[in-house]
Amino acid sequence: MGKHKVYIAQKIPKKVEDYIANFCDYEKWEGEGPIPRSELLKKIHDKEGLLLAGISIDEELLNHAPKLKVVSNASVGYNNFDLKAMKARNIIGTNTPGVLDDSVADLIFALMLSTARRITELDRYMKDGKWKLEDNENLFGLDIHHATVGIIGMGRIGEAVAKRAKFGFDMEILYYNRNRKYEIEESLGVKYCDFEELLKQSDFIVLMTPLNNNTYHLIGSKEFDLMKREAIFINASRGQTVNEKALIEALENKKIFGAGLDVYDKEPIEPDNPLLKMSNVVTVPHIGSATEKTRSEMAMLAATNLVKALSGEKAPNVVPE
Ligand code: DGY
Repeated sequence: MGKHKVYIAQKIPKKVEDYIANFCDYEKWEGEGPIPRSELLKKIHDKEGLLLAGISIDEELLNHAPKLKVVSNASVGYNNFDLKAMKARNIIGTNTPGVLDDSVADLIFALMLSTARRITELDRYMKDGKWKLEDNENLFGLDIHHATVGIIGMGRIGEAVAKRAKFGFDMEILYYNRNRKYEIEESLGVKYCDFEELLKQSDFIVLMTPLNNNTYHLIGSKEFDLMKREAIFINASRGQTVNEKALIEALENKKIFGAGLDVYDKEPIEPDNPLLKMSNVVTVPHIGSATEKTRSEMAMLAATNLVKALSGEKAPNVVPE
């Protein structure tokens, strides 16, 4: 039997490519930036496996790939999968949980700190030559230490955030999740909390839930109305877990103190998005897992999932149907 034919639509390190080459005949996208969809559709008619990140796996794509058996996402989120359409064709989807938790949790703390202490705003202030000796209250921010953080979505990344909150910053930690996490309650002293109560009580609200039908626009104007006026909202999950219009309105009307954002409704964000003009908003371009080490581990895990699933072995990270 010949090797499995796969297409690699994502840039991956050479060592990961070499690993795939041991088991598969592969073609890969070598152009600049993401592969245009029309190009991808041309490449997949004879492929059994795909390795990619975030590309929409929908009916249209599946119709172009009659031999497809496995789609390996080099990301933990898999909201790009049409799971129903994949299931109907017996196609396995995989993702890369675990290896990115600490990097994403670090980024979340970077967003919390820079929003609360106004780091990007005051960096600009310095560089514009505006610092004066009489500056005082106008440089004040908010404390993180001993504040209350509310984590929505207590998965692996939520737990990594909770560890930093407890051991680094002596924070009070509330969480909301679809099921209780008794072990984490025990080990980290986090407290399970009703969703609305969490919004009311938290100084920092960290949204870490995956995007699905239940979490689409989970946070909207009603939820911002419940938050404290000094609250800081952090989103490093997916842009559509929040109603972005409601977020903009909450920030414009000072319903909350600020926001730290890694993800957006539309990515890349439109240059005229009001969020980019707000001094109380810290924005970064979806870099939660973007360190060389973490992205390389994600690529290797995605390749392992692909190879194992294609060879009929149990792949480590098959996503639930
Ligand atoms: C993921 O893996 O889903 C993250 O969003 C990447 O940063």
